[in-house]
Amino acid sequence: MKVTIIGAGNVGASTCFLLASKNICSEIVLIDIVEDMAIGKAIDISQSCSAFGVDTLVYAQNEYSKISNSDIVVITAGVPRKPGMSREDLLQTNAKIISSVTDEIKKYAPNSIIIVVSNPLDVLTYVTLKLSGFEKSRVIGMGGMLDSARMTQAIFDELGYPSSKINSLVIGTHGEEMLPLARFTFVDGKNLEEITDKASLEKIIQKTKSGGAEIVKRLGTSAYYAPAASVCILIDAIIKDKKTIHPCSTLLQGEYGSNDVCIGVPVVIGKNGIEKIEELSLNDKESQEFIDSVNAIKKMINILKI
Ligand code: APR
Repeated sequence: MKVTIIGAGNVGASTCFLLASKNICSEIVLIDIVEDMAIGKAIDISQSCSAFGVDTLVYAQNEYSKISNSDIVVITAGVPRKPGMSREDLLQTNAKIISSVTDEIKKYAPNSIIIVVSNPLDVLTYVTLKLSGFEKSRVIGMGGMLDSARMTQAIFDELGYPSSKINSLVIGTHGEEMLPLARFTFVDGKNLEEITDKASLEKIIQKTKSGGAEIVKRLGTSAYYAPAASVCILIDAIIKDKKTIHPCSTLLQGEYGSNDVCIGVPVVIGKNGIEKIEELSLNDKESQEFIDSVNAIKKMINILKI
């Protein structure tokens, strides 16, 4: 398996390092407009492969023709959030970058599965899908998996259960209007709503929603280790054809009562990418929140006039 990672910054390089250490692909190509930085990181990660005794070949390239035959292409190119910025503030800048990157993927890796990581995630997943012309199964937005990991951490912080006993689910946009779903989150086999009071539940939900912003505030840039871990889980599920269910941004065509929008919902991930959308039966409150989430994304799509 050949994986290309476009953008060798914090998220791209962390993904490359973690993926290389897993020894599940034959080649990883790093691409960045800052060529020497990408080469330097690729050399460092290659040396980590030597230390681990891993045979994955890691190298950097600045010519897009070298991404040909990639099975998976991960897009992390773009600018990250700075303190005080929302993911939406990145819209125009990152949309331009993603458009140029998508043209190259379409040209040189037309059979690949694309994983979009750059923000604002759902809008950029939509842009990538439309500009690439790929089937919707081959364009996956990685956002809900990260938010679900943050919810799991918030449950641990609040209730003390280990992450191995927690199965969290966050759907909707990878942004302020995300939906941490207590009704579909299970802790030690029990529903989260059953084992927590209203105040704790509210804390968990708020902590999940602000999990990314807190890192930006303290670190001065956005998160990269947990995003990289989430991308690696997705790549592993594709390479091993696992058919596991993860919340990812995908194009809705009538599912959840919505159309022509990419948004996070539970999907089955296997060798073909997104193989199925799972439809949850949302109650009235959840459905309304989901519609709010859809509208927030559509507003940004309209700004771009895609
Ligand atoms: N082609 C290739 N690489 C590019 C391009 C481009 N057209 N434009 C920018 N880049 C590169 C930058 O040179 C930089 O190395 O993308 C990289 C982004 O890395 P960082 O600035 O470290 O940002 P990072 O934290 O990795 O976040 C990247 O992922 O999680 C999202 O919100 C985040 O949109 C942001 C993206």
